[in-house]
Amino acid sequence: MHWTTDRSAPSVGPVVITKTRSPIRSNVGLKAVMAVTGILLVLFLVVHMLGNLKIFTGETSFDHYAHWLRDIGTPLLPHTWYLWIQRSVLTVAVVAHIVAATVLARRARAARPVKYAHRKKVRGSYAARTMRWGGVIILLFVIYHILDLTTGHLNPQGDASNPYGNVVADFAPERWYVTLFYTLAIVTVGFHLRHGAYSAFRSLGQQTPRGERRARAGALVLAVALCAGYLVVPFAVLTGLVS
Ligand code: HEM
Repeated sequence: MHWTTDRSAPSVGPVVITKTRSPIRSNVGLKAVMAVTGILLVLFLVVHMLGNLKIFTGETSFDHYAHWLRDIGTPLLPHTWYLWIQRSVLTVAVVAHIVAATVLARRARAARPVKYAHRKKVRGSYAARTMRWGGVIILLFVIYHILDLTTGHLNPQGDASNPYGNVVADFAPERWYVTLFYTLAIVTVGFHLRHGAYSAFRSLGQQTPRGERRARAGALVLAVALCAGYLVVPFAVLTGLVS
């Protein structure tokens, strides 16, 4: 927090002190927080998706990959330290993303006079509503997902030494409802990502109809590629391609 003296105040008499926001709390600062944390989370999603696709290389290879994740950085870092550093960074990123989004949404609501409610109401608030509820659903999914495939508490097999078996047990045909739930969650991630990436690409690109079209297309390609890359794993198990 910065304190500045008001130069327009009279030179005699008491000095008037006014409060100014630190730059990170400005709307631009908060949008930068959204963008930086969003990029970090997308990077994780891309790497995680590529890692999941290793399931098609077989049980030994997939389990080896999962064990290697715990050894990244060794011997410089002790066993699992890298994983814990990554978890901490992702947790901070998620919290900062949510806090910045909440403050920005509140400010936007406070700044939007009620008289505009009849104009563009549906378009403007539709995106905001899907982002907000989409974010909540994704957060709940990640909590469930960690209890399912990381700690194994909600997994029918729950064997930390055999992640391949955990995934196969999870999406077994008789547990089709788990695949359905994952599908809904992943499609929600896709919508959230498409809107977030579109905003980011639009800010970075040209502010022209062509730039707008490119931003829209780029965001759609990213979201569809990620959704497909994630969904192929449960559906491969469901259909018996991976067993
Ligand atoms: C069908 C799609 C998915 C599959 C098959 C899958 C698979 C897995 C597996 C096997 C693990 C445990 C890794 C290990 O401990 O060795 C894991 C962890 C995790 N997944 Fe997924 N995942 C999927 C989708 C997602 C999505 C969409 C997200 C985020 C929105 C996500 C976020 C995470 C997180 C945060 C962890 C914990 C990582 C850690 O232990 O630090 N996953 N996933």
